[in-house]
Amino acid sequence: MTDVTKLCMMEYDALEKYYTRHGVPFDWDTVVAGALLHDIGKLTEFTMKDGSVTHGKDFELMRHPLSGALIASRAGLPNTIVHLIATHSFEGDRSYHTAESAFVRTIDIFVFHASVAGLKKR
Ligand SMILES: [Fe+2]
Repeated sequence: MTDVTKLCMMEYDALEKYYTRHGVPFDWDTVVAGALLHDIGKLTEFTMKDGSVTHGKDFELMRHPLSGALIASRAGLPNTIVHLIATHSFEGDRSYHTAESAFVRTIDIFVFHASVAGLKKR
């Protein structure tokens, strides 16, 4: 289980009461499935070259939010999950968000800044 999934599961209850108070649906299954699957397209961004893992030639054209959304859609997953995957990175900057997609996206950005971006500054 990824850090994003763990944090989403840990923080769900804290946020759920606010959404419930305002009558906004906030679905546990969508949060957990979305957190588990949001990076499913990552494998399509990479390839092996000369014995090393490197970005594939089309990784910028088909970043993992888009390729992941296609994978999820082709697998018959609900549009709420497809949407969450498609909008979890900067691809979703100006998109509509469900409560679940906004939540997973926020946790994902936090983890990125606390780990990947943080490591680059050392
Ligand atoms: Fe991602």
